[in-house]
Order: sequence, then C-alpha cells, then structure tokens
Amino acid sequence: MKKMFEYENVTGLHLELTTKCNAMCPMCNRNFKGKPRGDLPISELTIKDIKALLKPDFIEKLKLISVCGVYGEPICCRDLKKILRYIYKCNPNVDIDIYTNGGLYDEEWWQDLARITKKHNGTVIFGIDGVDETHSLHRRNTDFNTVIRNAKAYIDAGGKAGWDFIVFHHNEHQVEAARKMSEELGFQAFQIKKTSRFLKNLYEHDEMLDSTILGYGKHPVYDSNGKKIYDIELPENKEYRNTSEDRLLELIKEYETIDKYFDAVPIDCGAIKSGGIFLSAEGEVFPCCTVYQQVMYKVIHGVTDPSELNEYNLYLKDNLSAYDKSIKEIVEGTFFKELYKSFSCKSIALGKPKSCTRACGKNLDVHACGHTTKIKYSGGKKWKGISSWTNTLVVGYMILRTKKNTTMTKRHLNKSKRCLKENIN
Ligand SMILES: C[S@@+](CC[C@H](N)C(=O)[O-])C[C@H]1O[C@@H](n2cnc3c(N)ncnc32)[C@H](O)[C@@H]1O
Ligand code: SF4
Ligand code: SF4
Repeated sequence: MKKMFEYENVTGLHLELTTKCNAMCPMCNRNFKGKPRGDLPISELTIKDIKALLKPDFIEKLKLISVCGVYGEPICCRDLKKILRYIYKCNPNVDIDIYTNGGLYDEEWWQDLARITKKHNGTVIFGIDGVDETHSLHRRNTDFNTVIRNAKAYIDAGGKAGWDFIVFHHNEHQVEAARKMSEELGFQAFQIKKTSRFLKNLYEHDEMLDSTILGYGKHPVYDSNGKKIYDIELPENKEYRNTSEDRLLELIKEYETIDKYFDAVPIDCGAIKSGGIFLSAEGEVFPCCTVYQQVMYKVIHGVTDPSELNEYNLYLKDNLSAYDKSIKEIVEGTFFKELYKSFSCKSIALGKPKSCTRACGKNLDVHACGHTTKIKYSGGKKWKGISSWTNTLVVGYMILRTKKNTTMTKRHLNKSKRCLKENIN
C-alpha cells in the first residue's frame, strides 16, 4: 500500500500551462467581481519552459496527463501544440486529457489539434453549460455557436472529445437536450458535473465574494465594471446537486462546527493513492491542485487567518520550482515530507492542512470527486473515460476568506509584468 509521497509512484501529472483565460466564469478562482483577480500572477509556459521543467525520463514514466489548471485556459497557451508534440515524442502512449472552454480560434486550428491528439488517443473535454445562449450565463465571454463549431471541427477531423456540462438552475432544463446533441455531434462521452462551489456558504463566510449575503445556493455575477447583473443558482433537481450537500449538513450537526470535523477527520491523500502531482504555470510542483490553490490564497490575497496558512508556511520552507531542482528532488523534499507528516497533526491549529481535510477527509469529499454522472457512447474509438484521478484533481475548488494585501514573489512579479502586456488576461 502506498503510504507517502514517493517519486517512484508518480504516474500522473496535472498540468497548468497558463493563468491566462479568454472567459470570465463567475465561480472560477481566477476571477473576482467580473475581472481577473488583481494580484493573480499572469503566467504562460513556453515550449522552452516545458523542456526545462519536464525532462524526457519523467514524461516517459507518466500514464496520464491532465492539461487543465486552476487559474487558466490551456488553449490560451500559445505553445500548446508544440508542447503536446514534445510530450507525445517523449511518450507516445501517455493519455492526455485537455480541458477547455473551446471559445477561441477558427476551425483550422481545431482540425490541426485533432491531427496531433488522434494519433495518441488524446481527449479534449469541452466545458459547455447549455445548448444556446444559456451557455454564456456561466461560461461568460464565450459564445455557444463558436464553441460548438470548434468542437465539431475537432471531432470531424478525427479528434476524441468529451462534453462536460456543469448544472445550474438556469440550465438544468437543457441537460437532456445537451446530452442528445453531444451524441449527434460525435462526442464520445457526456458528463454532468455537480458543482461543489456553493457548499462553502454552508459553513464559511467569504468576504471577497459577498455571496453569503445572498444565502445558500446563490452566487452573484458581475459585469466588467463590477456591477452586479444577476445571480447563478443551484439546480432545483436534487439529482443534479452535489451529494456532499447533505453529508456536510450531517457532519456540522454531528460535530457542532465544521472546524471540529476538520480537526477530527483522518486524511486519505488522493495524490498518494493515484500517484499524481501538479505543475503550476509558474513551474512549481505540488502534490495536487488543491494544495497549490491553498498556497496561492496567501500569494494572491494575502490571507492572514492562521488556520488557512499551514500549507503556505510549509511552502516557505522549501523551493518547489522545477526550474531549480528535479521533480524527484522536489517530491522527495521538505515540503512533500512535512505536508505528509502534518496530516497526523491533532488539529488545524496545530498544523493539520485545512485544504487536505476538506478535499481528502475520509468522511466527506467537499470537492466534487465522484459528483459527476458520465454517459459514455458505444462505438467509435476506445474511450477510457475521464479518470477518477482527474476528477479528483480538477473539479470543484473552494473559495476561502481572503484579505487584499499581497506579497508576490519576485518571480511572480516578473512573469506578471511580461504577460500583462498581452491581451488575454
Ligand atoms: C479553472 S478550469 C481550467 C480549465 C479550463 N479553463 C476549463 O474551464 O475547462 C478547471 C476546471 O474547473 C471547472 N469549473 C469551472 N467552473 C466551475 C464551477 N462553477 N463548478 C465546478 N467546476 C467548475 C472547469 O470545467 C474545469 O474542468
Ligand atoms: S474557462 Fe476555465 S479558467 Fe477560464 S474562467 Fe472559466 S473556469 Fe476559469
Ligand atoms: S488535498 Fe488531498 S490529494 Fe492533495 S495533498 Fe492534500 S490530501 Fe493529498
């Protein structure tokens, strides 16, 4: 049984190629009140960066790469295709899943992408949250017709595609129409995602989003001037709601507060079980996107609540940059070792990592692991599905209490300056 982080066990990589994005999804952690978060380091990995960060011997040992990220859109990475070619050259058999809003470029660009992925059975998963303009209520700044045109160009050129549909009140009546459309267009799977991003309202106040003033189940949407324009809401149909909702309420009742539950619950680390690691657009290696995101709360928002800083304090003790060290050295280094040790701390106050208790506490999966319903279509090419590992790592981020007061590292600042000159933020 795997017990701690070991380089030998790493077979999966969650790859964030950039923190740029063309869209403005209201619940995405890169955005706040209709704009990208002011202090988000805007970064983008080039093919040169990737060659420096991911050496052939590391790529060779991978079985799965999820090109997704926490703060950005993979197709906004200009070297995406070069990077895919390089990875496939190092390991022609690796499974690559690319998560995208699909809202940029012309048909030719997507046909070309299909030419790269189809030889290696790679998959593009399009996030499409409706069957008409409803889609843009959540996937703001992307156009349904453009996304469908692009997906069609990709599929018709032989590319394997999945459709992910995040269900809200405004689109729940379109789930079946979308499923039907996905089958007709030749997607190989349709997946309903039951978002976890409303859940924090049940137990945690978030000053930055003022969503708590609306009560549970609502999230405000702002235009680019910061003016509130509407709310997005949980679906009414329970079938489309995250199953952690009931579990969370039970636990709060059982433990009196969720913090007492966090203190008590044993951690069963998903990254150790699956052999996954995460590489950020800054070139830093974390066990998973959840811990990366927790560290970034301090970097981006200057959070001062000590219960939110255990992961960040460990991060300060080590250098996680794969520009400076090998991935093996990082995985076997201080941060990974101490994080693992901290799972056994008696409480959050004594150093237990809060993000890990939320994501991998044994009695609750606050992040949406497994809160999906997938329909796979028969026929066509082999479909391995969007792995449970990938879901564990990419779905459902929590948003924490934050304060605006940031200290960015020198590297973050330099990269930000370079990228801010460009249009896509
Ligand atoms: C930050 S995005 C990065 C990849 C890409 N930009 C995309 O949106 O697919 C990471 C994941 O978050 C998911 N996501 C975005 N908004 C969400 C929400 N409100 N609830 C659950 N998942 C969401 C996306 O579908 C995607 O799989
Ligand atoms: S497309 Fe992805 S990265 Fe961009 S805002 Fe939406 S969820 Fe965030
Ligand atoms: S969040 Fe879960 S998968 Fe990530 S390091 Fe913590 S325990 Fe492991």
